[in-house]
Amino acid sequence: MASYIPELTKAHPNWFGICLVTMDGIAYSVGDSEQLFTIQSISKPFVYGAALTDRGRDFVTSRVGVEPSGDAFNTISLNSQTGAPLNPMINAGAIATTSLVAGETPEAQWRRIEASMAAFTGRDITIDEAVYQSESETGFRNRAIAWMLKNFGIIDGEPMASLENYFRQCSILVNCRDLAYMAATLANGGVHPLTGKSALPPEHVERVLSVMATCGMYDYAGSWLYEVGMPAKSGVGGGIIAVVPGSFGIGFFSPPLDGKGNSVRGIQACKELSHDFGMHVFGRTNNPKMALSRIYTASEAPSRRQATIEMRAYMSEHARRIKYLCLHGFLSVDGIEYVIRQMQEMAPDTHSFILDMHQVVGVSESAARLLNKARLGFGEDGIAVVCSRINDRHGVFGPLSKSVQNDDCGFLRFEDNDLAVEWCENRLMCEAPNSSIATRPLADSFLLKGLDETLMQQIEAVAHSHIFSTGEQILSVGHEGDGRVFFIESGRVSIVIPIQNGTHQRIASLGPGMEFGEMALLGQTTRSASVYADTEVRCRILEAADLEKISNQAPLLKIRLLENLARDMATKLKGANQWIAALA
Ligand code: DON
Repeated sequence: MASYIPELTKAHPNWFGICLVTMDGIAYSVGDSEQLFTIQSISKPFVYGAALTDRGRDFVTSRVGVEPSGDAFNTISLNSQTGAPLNPMINAGAIATTSLVAGETPEAQWRRIEASMAAFTGRDITIDEAVYQSESETGFRNRAIAWMLKNFGIIDGEPMASLENYFRQCSILVNCRDLAYMAATLANGGVHPLTGKSALPPEHVERVLSVMATCGMYDYAGSWLYEVGMPAKSGVGGGIIAVVPGSFGIGFFSPPLDGKGNSVRGIQACKELSHDFGMHVFGRTNNPKMALSRIYTASEAPSRRQATIEMRAYMSEHARRIKYLCLHGFLSVDGIEYVIRQMQEMAPDTHSFILDMHQVVGVSESAARLLNKARLGFGEDGIAVVCSRINDRHGVFGPLSKSVQNDDCGFLRFEDNDLAVEWCENRLMCEAPNSSIATRPLADSFLLKGLDETLMQQIEAVAHSHIFSTGEQILSVGHEGDGRVFFIESGRVSIVIPIQNGTHQRIASLGPGMEFGEMALLGQTTRSASVYADTEVRCRILEAADLEKISNQAPLLKIRLLENLARDMATKLKGANQWIAALA
């Protein structure tokens, strides 16, 4: 154990703990993982992160380098020209780093250090006063280093005050669990997996992990990267942290040290974990195909809008030109490159792409930029790229909206696939011949097909007209039916049913020549869905009782109505089955 700090020799040599934390904050611990000890040099990368945040990369690197020294932790390795310590992991670099964090006074700087460490542990910071006193009273070598840094102009203020803050940061009490959460926060791009709060901006996380990888284990750093392959940091208190970026944070604790000041059991356990679970950062592979879980088209899953006969005919041939791509997981550049390549292959036969983001947990900024470029390129070829189901997920929406230039209106995004595909269908229909039939007389209605002129005249006579204004609710789910059947002459309505958690699902959108409320003809008494006017809607309304009266004189009417109704139901059922098959 490190006898140069007398208090540290009081640790029990048998203490041994390991804790591993996943990116969703689950901790797996064994042994003495709750035993507190002092963090020592493991504080260095975290304080370095705080200095980078407070002073910026350029200023910090002008005072402390990023080259591995290959020397022991307490060697005075300074750049021969500038006097700057070679890296922030050796004591000289760490004392200089401590002097760089924000704060007008040493006390304010200490508060900053405490706060930044607390963001990583996820709990308040305390220090071991006895260890602090012990090191402060005996740390002559570090005192000499601090004066040397003052001599070279690396420390601006009072060097002894910065040194005391350095001793204090080394005396912060942690257990193995804390270490694992701190490491996991680095592995997770700087966001604490349990609190969800950012402890360090991602660009600085990269820098911190880089110096940990090259300098974290001092004169053992090369062999460490070669054999274990994880950015890591040890401390003479017996702790080690190791980071598997994007996957795990691990904390080890066992006080007996080797000649280089690294925990003997900690190193051995880390080697075995890395080997047994394939954690070497250069040995990990990723399959970009994971970014794309499935592809299907609007011919399998059309919008829930009820199509006119013309539209149906056109769509049966062209709907496959609307492609859904279900994206998945965290989208990085490699995954997006694969998605774009698939889109390019499909492009000759595509009118619109719908990127379904429902299963996407995040998008990197570089991936978002690449996707945006591709979107603009497809746009030039007349192919639309729209997104659906992003909802409120900031990790998805944030990078996508940031990737868009100011003069571009950006990704078109829809709350659900139904709205997205309806938009794409409308776009496709613009290319269809006579796509814009805006009004349909009552006689054209599907339900009244096959009736002779006399019957039609009788029906016309009892059908009254009504205009609903945009947004008006025409029918309410669960309400008592009054026997009215509605025939749309112009405008559009949405049929909506309530689903769990107070939200609604549109099940159909209807236009001219279509009818709703027709269940009244079968004697249904309560309305099974709500109906809203999406535009101004002109309807002809028939009372079931009036139709009944006419049927009494002319039974053929009833037969025709029921036949048409059955045919309509069969078509709807076929559509619904196709939908279920497409989504299965
Ligand atoms: O400055 C020192 O010497 C100690 N407070 C910390 C050194 C340390 O942890 C070295 N790492 N293995």
